[in-house]
Amino acid sequence: MAHWITTRLLLLLVFVSEAQPSTLHLRTELLNVCMDAKHHKERPGPEDRLHQQCSPWRRNACCTVNTSKEAHKDMSYLYGFNWDHCGKMEPACKRHFIQDTCLYECSPNLGPWITKVDQSWRKERVLNVPLCKEDCETWWEDCRSSFTCKGNWHKGWNWTSGHNQCPVQAACHTFPFYFPTPADLCNEIWSHSYKVSNYSRGSGRCIQMWFDPAQGNPNEEVARFYAEVVSGAGFRRAWAPLLSLALTLTLLWLLC
Ligand SMILES: *[C@@H]1O[C@H](CO)[C@@H](O)[C@H](O)[C@H]1NC(C)=O
Ligand SMILES: *[C@@H]1O[C@H](CO)[C@@H](O)[C@H](O)[C@H]1NC(C)=O
Ligand SMILES: *[C@@H]1O[C@H](CO)[C@@H](O)[C@H](O)[C@H]1NC(C)=O
Repeated sequence: MAHWITTRLLLLLVFVSEAQPSTLHLRTELLNVCMDAKHHKERPGPEDRLHQQCSPWRRNACCTVNTSKEAHKDMSYLYGFNWDHCGKMEPACKRHFIQDTCLYECSPNLGPWITKVDQSWRKERVLNVPLCKEDCETWWEDCRSSFTCKGNWHKGWNWTSGHNQCPVQAACHTFPFYFPTPADLCNEIWSHSYKVSNYSRGSGRCIQMWFDPAQGNPNEEVARFYAEVVSGAGFRRAWAPLLSLALTLTLLWLLC
């Protein structure tokens, strides 16, 4: 009888201890990672000399110094993308595109939103990154007076000259013509790489494109939060009290 109880207890212990590490494993896979794309480093690490707007990521980055410099150039070697495809983009607007490039190339905190893609120039992309609403709103505000000819900048360009030109049937208009609301801009421009959050900067629940590195990188906490949601660890934690009650009852039953 005592032997039978001991075996049951051992099985229970094995079950409980097995259940934890697998969830922890899944979570850490989503943290502190670089996507497998055109210019990303294989692993994040310190980059003391990251350029200007990319400098917030110096302590830990997926981009090289070269990439951070190129991110500030027009028609850079990164993608040959021409911001000025409908005349000169306002500098106040362009700085948001530079910041967007820095976040995309440098952030090691986008793991929960990385998905595989079948594209010639990258194996992974991000989808539905919850961008803080203020970062999206200021981007849209600052670009209201700049011009473009398309509402999705990932496809449909004429690339025959080596950089993107407006296709003949696409007319240049101010941004609000193609992006009536901030959400239209942030969600549609890069084919849903972002999904504007209704959380605010500093909430720990949305990704900040802009941050002051003196306070640390706020996106680390955000990635941790969403990694738990994805892996169901949050769910497990919620059920933990019930699980331990069930275990206690089982033990009582075994011992009686
Ligand atoms: C970055 O590297 C590319 C390819 O090696 C090179 O063509 C480019 O000039 C470099 N850019 C800077 C700013 O060093
Ligand atoms: C693409 O641009 C080139 C000039 O760079 C032009 O000759 C050609 O007609 C354009 N094609 C389309 C489909 O817009
Ligand atoms: C958006 O914010 C409101 C109020 O702050 C909240 O009730 C709602 O659940 C949020 N929606 C989403 C999708 O997060």
